Amino acid sequence: MNKNDTVIETRELTCRFGNFTAVDKLNLQVQRGSIYGFIGSNGSGKSTTIRMLCGLLRPTSGQAFVLGYDTAADAERIKQRIGYMSQRFSLYYDLTCVENLSFYAGLYGLSGQIKKRRIEEIFSRMQLEEKRQVLAGSMSGGQRQRLALGCAILHRPELLILDEPTSAVDPTSRRMFWNLLAELTQEHTTILVTTHFMDEAEHCDAVGFLKAGRMLAGGSPQELKKGLPAQLITLDYGTTKEAQQALLSSGMSYLDAYVFGQKFHVLVVPECVFPSALCYMPAEITMEDVFIYYDKQQGGKDI
Ligand SMILES: Nc1ncnc2c1ncn2[C@@H]1O[C@H](COP(=O)(O)OP(=O)(O)O)[C@@H](O)[C@H]1O
Ligand SMILES: [Mg+2]
Repeated sequence: MNKNDTVIETRELTCRFGNFTAVDKLNLQVQRGSIYGFIGSNGSGKSTTIRMLCGLLRPTSGQAFVLGYDTAADAERIKQRIGYMSQRFSLYYDLTCVENLSFYAGLYGLSGQIKKRRIEEIFSRMQLEEKRQVLAGSMSGGQRQRLALGCAILHRPELLILDEPTSAVDPTSRRMFWNLLAELTQEHTTILVTTHFMDEAEHCDAVGFLKAGRMLAGGSPQELKKGLPAQLITLDYGTTKEAQQALLSSGMSYLDAYVFGQKFHVLVVPECVFPSALCYMPAEITMEDVFIYYDKQQGGKDI
C-alpha cells in the first residue's frame, strides 16, 4: 500500500487502565479522502482510540501512525495538523462565536488578515453569519455543533477526527452536518467519525465495529452487509408480539430476533430451513442489523 494514501494506521494498538483493557490490539487503516465510521456501543473504546490517535494518550503497547507520524514520538506535530472535535464540543459557552473562533485560531498560530479571512469563511460555510456576537452557550445544539466543527477546521487540517459529533442534535442538523462533511471530503480531507446512528454509517466509505476494545468487523457498508454470515427475514404478522409468539411456537432456531421499527426481524443461518407454518419474507440487511449482529458477538476476533 502506498504510504501517502494511508492517513491512519494502527498496529496492535492497545490501551490498558490498570488491569482493564480498553483498546485491545487494534489494527486500523484509514485511506486519504475517505470517511471512516467508527462504530460501537458505549464503552467499546472509541474515544480512547481517538485520544491515542490525537497524541493525547500514550498507548500501553502497539503503535499508531497518523499522517505518517508516530503518535508516541511526534504528538505535537500531529496536533497541529489534525482537526479534533471532542464529544463535548470543547466550546467556551461564555464567549461569543467570534471569540471562540478567534481563540482557536490563536492556538493554531493564525493571525492578522489570514485569521480574519478564515473566520469569515467559517461563518459563511457553517451558516452562522448572524451569530457572530452571540454567546456560544445560548445557541442551539446544532449551531454549537457547527461552531465546534468550524473551530476544528480553521487551520485546514488534512485529517478531521470527530467523536460523536451528532449525538446531541436534531435530525435536520444531523443532515446539514453530514452535507458539510461531504463537502470537506470533496476537498480531500480525511474524516474519522464515531457515531451511534446507523444511517450515518451508511454514508461512510468504510466502517469498523468495535466491541470491548476489539475490532469485530470492518469494510464498506456494502461489504459488511454482504459478508454477514446470516440471512434476514421479517415476520409477517399483525403485531410484533404476534410475530414473536409465532417464531417461538414454530420451534425454528435462529441467531437473533428483535423488533425493528414496526417490523420483527429474525436473523438466521444462511442454510436455514423454514417451518411451513411461519409467515415470513426475506428482507434486505441494513447497517442496523449488521450492528446488532456484531454487538451481540462474544469477545472479538482479528480481521
Ligand atoms: N482514564 C480512564 N481510566 C479508566 N478507565 C477508562 C478511562 N478512560 C476510559 N476508560 C474506560 O475504558 C472503556 C472505553 O471507554 P471509551 O473509550 O470512552 O468508550 P466509548 O468512547 O466507545 O464509549 C470504558 O469502560 C471506560 O470506562
Ligand atoms: Mg466515547
